Amino acid sequence: MNIKLALVPGDGIGPDVVQQAVRVLDKIGQVYNHHFEYETVLAGGAAIDVAGECLPKETIAVCKSSDAVLLGAVGGWKWDVLPGDQRPERALLGLRKELGLFANIRPAILFEELAEACPLKQEIVEGGMDLVVVRELTGGIYFGEKGFKQTDMGLAAYDVEQYAEEEVRRIAVVAFDMAMKRSRKLCSVDKANVLESSRLWRRVVNEVSKDYPEVTLEHMYVDNAAMQLVRNPKQFDVIVTSNIFGDILSDEASMITGSIGMLPSASLAQGNFGMYEPIHGSAPDIAGLNKANPMATILSAAMMLKYTFGLTIEAEAVEKAVKAILAKGYRTPDIMSPGSKPIGTKEAGDLILKEIT
Ligand code: IPM
Ligand code: MG
Repeated sequence: MNIKLALVPGDGIGPDVVQQAVRVLDKIGQVYNHHFEYETVLAGGAAIDVAGECLPKETIAVCKSSDAVLLGAVGGWKWDVLPGDQRPERALLGLRKELGLFANIRPAILFEELAEACPLKQEIVEGGMDLVVVRELTGGIYFGEKGFKQTDMGLAAYDVEQYAEEEVRRIAVVAFDMAMKRSRKLCSVDKANVLESSRLWRRVVNEVSKDYPEVTLEHMYVDNAAMQLVRNPKQFDVIVTSNIFGDILSDEASMITGSIGMLPSASLAQGNFGMYEPIHGSAPDIAGLNKANPMATILSAAMMLKYTFGLTIEAEAVEKAVKAILAKGYRTPDIMSPGSKPIGTKEAGDLILKEIT
């Protein structure tokens, strides 16, 4: 296969981790006979510094003309002083909207080898946790009407939560399809006891469920879901929810795994196009110091192989390689435990490359 990728290393440790993922992809190319071609573009603070804006038009154009996008991270203290609409994070929202990435897939897997990193009592996660949050990514309060108005309580600011039937339907379809490939259990999270937009969400999810008679669908209020996630996370398999609830619950779920440096994500458009990125942020304090854990980005590249290109065997080879180095006791600083072998960003890449044969 000939594959054309847009690389968006971004800020902080973004370039460090993307570099290792590219090495892994090239190795996969060698072993399984694929050719990867890369075009690197700017976004976030790096783009602000060079081009004066966080998401230059050229970046969008290159991403659109590629087969998929691999992104590191955006943001850092340096740009924290900028007004909200000019912050590096705007680049992420812009890319999501421009590229039509409405479905965000965030697996939260407790790696057996890292079980001790989980902050919950061991009996709660005994036997492992493996769930995936399917988050709606281009609608809701993130993209609804926003603004200011004068009220008798002073200046007010507002952000509108709004969902259209079709927006809910398409994300529900992604979640049901995912559930069909896993344990056929889906939990839809909303706040239908209070919000009109949630009541519409629930109605549409119920309608879509008629096409998936084999999937057991459950609805849960978001406050209860936040509680259940720490009480008994193993009850969940696939969770589908809105943009804002998914933002919050996916952070909570990732913390339960204890190793945010390990978790990949995919943001998918209609069709096979997607943008892939680690869940963690830009960690500017360790940028360029060979300390960042590249495994989340490498696993994001694996998701890309699977979801965009249907290269399941290649994706599994990458996942197996990551697990193998963990099993051998190698640890980057973020997942270090007593008695393990400390490695840096580059060594993690080297070791993973060696496992792919
Ligand atoms: C995420 C992040 C972003 C979001 C921020 C950086 C805009 O928290 O990807 O979860 O809120 O979606
Ligand atoms: Mg978030």
